[in-house]
Amino acid sequence: MEIIKAKTFFDGDTGVLKGDKISRSERRLKDMEGIFTDKDAYERMPPDTLVYKVEVHEAVKDIPGGLYFGVSHVYPGRVGHEYFMTKGHFHARRDTAEYYWGITGHGVLLFMDEKRTVWAEEIIPGSLHYIPGNIAHRLINSGDSELTVGACWPSDAGHDYTTIVNAGFSARILEKNGRPEIHF
Ligand code: F6R
Ligand code: ZN
Repeated sequence: MEIIKAKTFFDGDTGVLKGDKISRSERRLKDMEGIFTDKDAYERMPPDTLVYKVEVHEAVKDIPGGLYFGVSHVYPGRVGHEYFMTKGHFHARRDTAEYYWGITGHGVLLFMDEKRTVWAEEIIPGSLHYIPGNIAHRLINSGDSELTVGACWPSDAGHDYTTIVNAGFSARILEKNGRPEIHF
């Protein structure tokens, strides 16, 4: 029997994934209608502006008991005073949890439960964040460089974006005097 060579690689410095079974997606401002609070600032910005990219190693597809490993790259920027961020979601299978960890940059992880109570944790390189089941989660880049965050979650968790598109989070992270502030 031979030792099989690794087919997929994770760069610990940049978070970039390379090799087999990697899917990539990106979100530009035009894909994020209704997500940012300052509609006029949103309309004034180039719709093609890249907000974030996600790389996922999909060893399996949507099977119970499986896992996904992903890396989110959120670019620095703001719409008005609101930092670039992910759309945010609950998992479609609501009770599934997830780990996030900081790789590069500086950011905030916003949590919200089903009663719309919110809380937030600072993300820095090396920080580890447990997102329990039934909790919506969103990444916010509050720094001036790329925020890169690793993630691992059940492959049958799915995404429910509709709840967030319709009702949003009950708090936003806005820049005030060069620093992130939570606004309810
Ligand atoms: C997977 C997960 C992350 C996000 C990614 C992009 O459950 O939480 O991989 O999918 O950070 O954010 P969304 O999916 O909210 O656009
Ligand atoms: Zn998730």
